Amino acid sequence: MNEASNHQAPLRTWLITGSTSGIGRELALQALENGDTVSALARDTSSLAELAQAHGERLLLVPADVRDEGAVRDAVERTLARFGRIDVVANNAGYGLFGAVEEASDAQARAVFDTNVFGVLNVLRATLPVLRAQRSGHILQASSVYGQSAHPGVGLLAATKYAVEGLSDALAAEVAPLGIKVTLIQPGMTATPFLANLDVAAGLDDYDGTVREVHKAIGELPASAFSAAARIAAGIRAAVDAPNPPLRLALGTSSATGMRPALEARIADLDGWLHVTDAVDG
Ligand SMILES: NC(=O)c1ccc[n+]([C@@H]2O[C@H](COP(=O)([O-])OP(=O)(O)OC[C@H]3O[C@@H](n4cnc5c(N)ncnc54)[C@H](OP(=O)(O)O)[C@@H]3O)[C@@H](O)[C@H]2O)c1
Repeated sequence: MNEASNHQAPLRTWLITGSTSGIGRELALQALENGDTVSALARDTSSLAELAQAHGERLLLVPADVRDEGAVRDAVERTLARFGRIDVVANNAGYGLFGAVEEASDAQARAVFDTNVFGVLNVLRATLPVLRAQRSGHILQASSVYGQSAHPGVGLLAATKYAVEGLSDALAAEVAPLGIKVTLIQPGMTATPFLANLDVAAGLDDYDGTVREVHKAIGELPASAFSAAARIAAGIRAAVDAPNPPLRLALGTSSATGMRPALEARIADLDGWLHVTDAVDG
């Protein structure tokens, strides 16, 4: 056996945004445990120092706020300088804004789009040239049960996830001929610091009976209602390992049960109003 065949080549190189906590951190951890290499992007990488110590050269910590296009581009360059390629882009960073649509201020609405949508676009523009040159790669887009459904109090959060879903539908078809796969990750309620990191809009009594009641109900959910982040990460890795990954991957029963009625209601509206739809054509 020669030296080259003795060498255990890394299986994949991941670039993961929002890797400090929750799903992103679990994904980084599991990829590293699998023997892969990881470029972990985070606003503050200090909480990942222990992980870096445990995994040495296979983990690159890169400070980057996804809202900063220049920082994201630098992070991609550093990733290439260290690992030479990128196989999986986990566009995972994001946060929630809860409150009635009318209650969210302009600043709050723009801020959540800045991270959840324009941050995703920054990462896409920085990584796609690499994946296109490779003619390979898999992009994981952080969506949610709220990427296909919404209830009172999550309108702005859902708006960002619907935006990611819409652009990903087009993106998937644009990059498939170039050898690049796209999967929308749609977790349901997951036990991460997500709820603790929420921005909350409030102020109008008229929404107490809807928005505040829903928020209270979410706050009172038992721990068993939340999927473990490690299981969400395992589900994501199963899609990455699959030869034909899905465009949409619901993760957790709460995701499937949350989305199904919304999806059925869309078809019901489409079918139920076809007489009006078709009448428009004269
Ligand atoms: N937990 C759920 O129930 C759930 C359900 C459906 C979808 N999701 C989605 O899953 C993704 C991960 O969320 P999570 O549940 O793991 O929540 P989390 O534990 O709060 O993690 C969010 C991550 O995003 C990072 N982040 C936020 N804003 C950023 C910015 N501007 N630049 C760079 N990083 C930023 C955070 O980093 P910092 O440490 O710097 O804040 C953190 O690492 C999100 O897109 C979320 O919408 C979550």
